[in-house]
Amino acid sequence: MSAAVNTETLDWANLAFGYMPTDYNVRCRFADGKWGPVEESTSETIEMHIAATALHYGQEIFEGLKAFRGKDGKIRIFRLEENAKRIRESAKGIMMEPIPEDLFREMVIRVVKLNERFVPPYGSGASLYIRPLEIGMSARIGVKPADEYMFMIMVSPVGPYFKEGFRPTNICIMREFDRVAPKGTGRWKVGGNYAASLDAGDRAHSLGYSAVLYLDPKEKKYLDECGPANFFAIKEGKYITPASESILPSITNMSLQQIARDLGIEVEARHIPIEELDSIDEAAACGTAAVASPIARIDDLDTGRQYVIAPDGQPGPITTRLYDTLRGIQLGDLPDTHGWNTVL
Ligand code: PLP
Ligand code: COI
Repeated sequence: MSAAVNTETLDWANLAFGYMPTDYNVRCRFADGKWGPVEESTSETIEMHIAATALHYGQEIFEGLKAFRGKDGKIRIFRLEENAKRIRESAKGIMMEPIPEDLFREMVIRVVKLNERFVPPYGSGASLYIRPLEIGMSARIGVKPADEYMFMIMVSPVGPYFKEGFRPTNICIMREFDRVAPKGTGRWKVGGNYAASLDAGDRAHSLGYSAVLYLDPKEKKYLDECGPANFFAIKEGKYITPASESILPSITNMSLQQIARDLGIEVEARHIPIEELDSIDEAAACGTAAVASPIARIDDLDTGRQYVIAPDGQPGPITTRLYDTLRGIQLGDLPDTHGWNTVL
């Protein structure tokens, strides 16, 4: 399917965060109460029932993780066990069939190996983005979960999520939209959460912001998360990040917290009132796609307040250290002391 993509001549260093066809995807069906064999497919399309629950009632969940090529030529997949656990939680959250962790692992490794030529070279700054997804396949008109599911994994080589890369960008607070409800689906990686964020994201982009910093949907007093990424800040040498039941538990955030502790930096996961933005020294959006993208300024569009975080437009020293350490571990340049990488 990707005969047109010549990886010998690809401009790896200038890849965007976008879709590129690759050689294979992998698929597995759940029917009659069990998962079937794993299929290797070269097709970019799927056939499904017109009444499938994924299409009508939003039974769709996904994941995002990355594989990196090291200086030693080896491929490392970052923390795939955590994505395996999280997609099971997402499945349970919207009454889908949880994928066995072993099956998830086997399929991730298989799809990366099948598309090995698309794993960007060491030093390019790019990586192979791995996108697992599960959809409800059964035909329903009544609002009920499916009993047949399809789990698939596609991959695409990608560059930085924010085109600025590791350069601080501006973000905004907007109270007009919530991406999730207080006791809704925010803690799961459900397609509908992203649908709910499109309008706000589009408005923010058209005003020149890279993302929306969402507030907690109940009281709108505390910081929640930052578009498709978690939020963290550095305050008086401490790493602070929102504790909230309406945000996605980010594996990158979890890893950065561990790295911070390893570096002797105290970590606080707690409610962060908006006003506290006045007293932070550094801030960043963190996630698989975003890695740790520094924030220069946060504009509150409703009150007109501006929180200037990086007046010189440079990433802060602690954010830089955390970013470099995370990248170093992912690429195999630094010791993987916590056993986060699956090395192929
Ligand atoms: N928050 C949201 C809403 C996301 O979509 C993502 C991306 O996966 C994250 C946070 C970051 O999570 P992770 O670090 O596991 O990629
Ligand atoms: C990721 O970081 O993997 C994400 O899910 C972001 C994505 C929605 C673009």
